[in-house]
Amino acid sequence: RPLDINIELPDEQSAQKLKIGIYFATWWALNVVFNIYNKKVLNAFPYPWLTSTLSLACGSLMMLVSWATRIADAPKTDLEFWKTLFPVAVAHTIGHVAATVSMSKVAVSFTHIIKSGEPAFSVLVSRFFMGETFPLPVYLSLLPIIGGCALAAITELNFNITGFMGAMISNLAFVFRNIFSKKGMKGKSVSGMNYYACLSMMSLVILTPFSIAVEGPQMWAAGWQNAVSQVGPNFVWWVVAQSVFYHLYNQVSYMSLDQISPLTFSIGNTMKRISVIVASIIIFHTPIQPVNALGAAIAIFGTFLYSQVNKQTYSCLPTSSTWFFSEQ
Ligand code: 3PG
Repeated sequence: RPLDINIELPDEQSAQKLKIGIYFATWWALNVVFNIYNKKVLNAFPYPWLTSTLSLACGSLMMLVSWATRIADAPKTDLEFWKTLFPVAVAHTIGHVAATVSMSKVAVSFTHIIKSGEPAFSVLVSRFFMGETFPLPVYLSLLPIIGGCALAAITELNFNITGFMGAMISNLAFVFRNIFSKKGMKGKSVSGMNYYACLSMMSLVILTPFSIAVEGPQMWAAGWQNAVSQVGPNFVWWVVAQSVFYHLYNQVSYMSLDQISPLTFSIGNTMKRISVIVASIIIFHTPIQPVNALGAAIAIFGTFLYSQVNKQTYSCLPTSSTWFFSEQ
């Protein structure tokens, strides 16, 4: 008689949950590391246009090498693909540089509190630019998001208008990026990872001339010398770290997106912001007042409410992640 060994193998569902858990943990960890190094670099070298450009350049280079060495298969693209990618890349570029400018002016935690208001932008843009209407609970869920962000902003000890506007512009740009991407990716066979690689490359081409015009090599050279004299030769590794981690966290988020629904992704993205806010407050000793933390908590709670009320209507709402899923 065969031995009756009672080993409980995880069923498919638990294996899938474990896989998603690993993706999420990796994504958040990479994002926290990116945010820490990004802020360390910006503190010593306040040139966000260049650091944004370097993040895109590093990601583009990593993907070109991966394609050339066949670590990853290069996508088959045509002119039409690049044409439809263009508006996405413009919005991605604006959203990326605006977030980086914001983080160069205010605490990382403050930028991410304002960025947790992105769902409110999604609904308002869809309502006023696209003429879409939503059920009342969706609008009501925006109240804590907007109210919480407003409370966090007015009680922020290191409030700076450029920092605030940068995060707001980033929210708006990323909502348009989502909408354009939904159209652009429909029916295309390019994987999420390669779509993001192409997006990085096109954004790099768009951003480079603007970075040169806004900041330029003279400022960069002087700033770099100053940063190296303050930080030491390790400064270059900080720049490498922020660039590499920027690409890696985005890439892992795209890999997780193949596995999960937009709703799960949206909740994951909010949880990511909580990790970044908490980690950056601890690492940078960011001063916060109880009322300021309350505003952040209300805004984040509002994002969860928004996710919940969208369970029924999610498919019609562009969120920070919907565009990744438009292939599905
Ligand atoms: C950027 O630099 O693009 C922002 O830090 C992006 O932020 P997010 O991926 O958390 O929206």
